[in-house]
Amino acid sequence: MQSELEEKKEMQQLRDDIMRLKKEKNALIMTHYYQRDEIQEIADFIGDSLALARQAAKTDADIIVMCGVHFMGETAKILCPDKKVLIPDKAAGCSLADSCDPVEFKEFVESHPDHTVISYVNTSAAVKALTDIVVTSGNARKIVEQLPEDEKIIFGPDHNLGEYINSVTGRRMLLWKGACHVHDRFSLEKIIEMKKEHPGAKILVHPECRRPLQLIADKVGSTAALLDFAQKDDAKEYIVVTESGILFEMRNKCPQKVFLAAPAEDSECQCNECDFMKLNTLRKVYECLRDETPEIFVDEEISKKALKPIERMLEMS
Ligand code: 13P
Ligand code: SF4
Repeated sequence: MQSELEEKKEMQQLRDDIMRLKKEKNALIMTHYYQRDEIQEIADFIGDSLALARQAAKTDADIIVMCGVHFMGETAKILCPDKKVLIPDKAAGCSLADSCDPVEFKEFVESHPDHTVISYVNTSAAVKALTDIVVTSGNARKIVEQLPEDEKIIFGPDHNLGEYINSVTGRRMLLWKGACHVHDRFSLEKIIEMKKEHPGAKILVHPECRRPLQLIADKVGSTAALLDFAQKDDAKEYIVVTESGILFEMRNKCPQKVFLAAPAEDSECQCNECDFMKLNTLRKVYECLRDETPEIFVDEEISKKALKPIERMLEMS
């Protein structure tokens, strides 16, 4: 069993080695807000899915280490096919992306030939290749609102985000029935109970949560939008209804405020944590930078098809 001091020393050594390798290899460490605190600490860039895609599109680094989940690495690779894109743990998938099988999605798309296909960025490259426009939770509303009011739209895979966009835009997009196993499990009852204990707290909700939670929210938005709201708003306390990794940056940016992680349905398990996101560790970041593996590869044909809707997203947002 390692002592606390030994553990601290090891972490410091890993941080030093990562910094050295990063310079030597001209690598960029990009990190999503749901990553472990110690990974967010060493990142060159932290962001939501939209910011990560934008940053990947403009970096001049030779290597991108994507500390997030697989679809984030794939999106970076599609935008920068000539760069090496690494992910600390290849098993870091996404239950939402997995809820949209490309073969089934193709059938759905083909059975609605007069529809524009909008896909959330939390999808495989194969699903993006069947898509007209990719969106993130940070730009979905803005993009949908740019389409003609009578445009017929398919939206996948996140049903809760789709319902939210339908409600704020007045559209009637056809929704795929996918969901994220973390966001879909937050309990309305528990959050109402929490609000009773903290009546002054504002409720921040990610749009991947179910509709009743969206309805009681003071702010619905992407991780970056929730963070931005907390920075500009004047409340002192917040109930944060999304993956709890975001609390690290919220507390960094607003040290004088209190952020409470919303409990999920089953308080016995850490259901407000994304087990895929948490697969990445500081040691794995070091090892993947040292060994330049695991690397993300995307089939060339699929990559070319998937690039168009991603570029369209970047143009429209
Ligand atoms: P954001 O784009 O809001 O960061 O969300 C990504 C995600 O995976 C949410 O579960
Ligand atoms: Fe996917 Fe949900 Fe994890 Fe986000 S929190 S990466 S949607 S499984």
